[in-house]
Amino acid sequence: MSDEIDQLHQEAAASLANASDAQALEAWRIEYLGTKGRLKGMMSRMRDLSKEERPVFGQRMNALKETLEASFDSRQSGAAASHDGPPIDVTEPGLPARSGKRHVLTRTIDEIVEVFGRMGFSVAEGPEVEDEWHNFNALNIPDDHPARDPIDNFFLAGDRMLRSQTSTVQIRVMEQSPPPLKIISVGRVYRPDTHDATHYSMFHQVEGLCLDRGVTMIDLKTVLFQFAKAYFGPEAEVRMRPSFFPFTEPSAEVDMKMKIRGQWQWVELGGCGMVDPNVLEAVDIDPEEWTGYAFGLGIERIAMRRYGISDIRNLYENDERFLRQF
Ligand code: DAH
Repeated sequence: MSDEIDQLHQEAAASLANASDAQALEAWRIEYLGTKGRLKGMMSRMRDLSKEERPVFGQRMNALKETLEASFDSRQSGAAASHDGPPIDVTEPGLPARSGKRHVLTRTIDEIVEVFGRMGFSVAEGPEVEDEWHNFNALNIPDDHPARDPIDNFFLAGDRMLRSQTSTVQIRVMEQSPPPLKIISVGRVYRPDTHDATHYSMFHQVEGLCLDRGVTMIDLKTVLFQFAKAYFGPEAEVRMRPSFFPFTEPSAEVDMKMKIRGQWQWVELGGCGMVDPNVLEAVDIDPEEWTGYAFGLGIERIAMRRYGISDIRNLYENDERFLRQF
């Protein structure tokens, strides 16, 4: 019996060595390892053996099975690696490779930076993890102001928080560089809003700050007007409605007229105003000598209205079918 096992092993090994392609390998597998294969056939002879012989026989057969399976596996992966098998049809047309593209928001941001760049604004950056000084105090937002409500902010340990507005960067820039200044800053801001079609707990703003001698509200309106024309087209306009922000006096809300599905419409984009003297004093700049304007616009708003996107969540779901459209 032992001889027969050896013989089967030798035959199987020789036959496997001769199998030259994927088809032959499969035929070998069926012949030796298949459910009706030769190993199974030999196993069935167990019943002819005595009680003492059976375990020895069983063990040898299992060992043989494992050895053959291992040899088969290594031949098969070798065959796959060397492209053994059906020949490759080199004349078959290939699949077109789709190139990646910028996310629609990144594209909007790049366009905004470009337009303000042409008007002489350089780009400043600030951290997303901020402290209360930069997010509130220096911006003339008093301790008891409702904007500080924990329900409207992502507070972290200590006095750290995720910034709720890019106005923080105005302070950082004024702390570091003396006027005159003309900067924009683009970045993420965070507010614990429940997600729906127009709200998301993270979004982007573009902040502007211009500080010089003799800057007036006319300069502010001119810059916003120029931006609207350059970005939305020659018929675009800017409208300012009186409003209140702690860090500007006077303050206004900014609407821009943009083309939406062929129609010109007013869209509210953010806030603006003349930098409040208290803000300048907080960063040791003399408000008697320097005046400035500031503005903050929502970027998702601009992108959504401009590209006809009705749900802000689409911007963050990374569904390729959506992203490919822009
Ligand atoms: N930070 C304000 C907000 O998030 C927007 C804003 C309003 C920014 C007026 C400004 C400004 O720079 O002058 O709602």
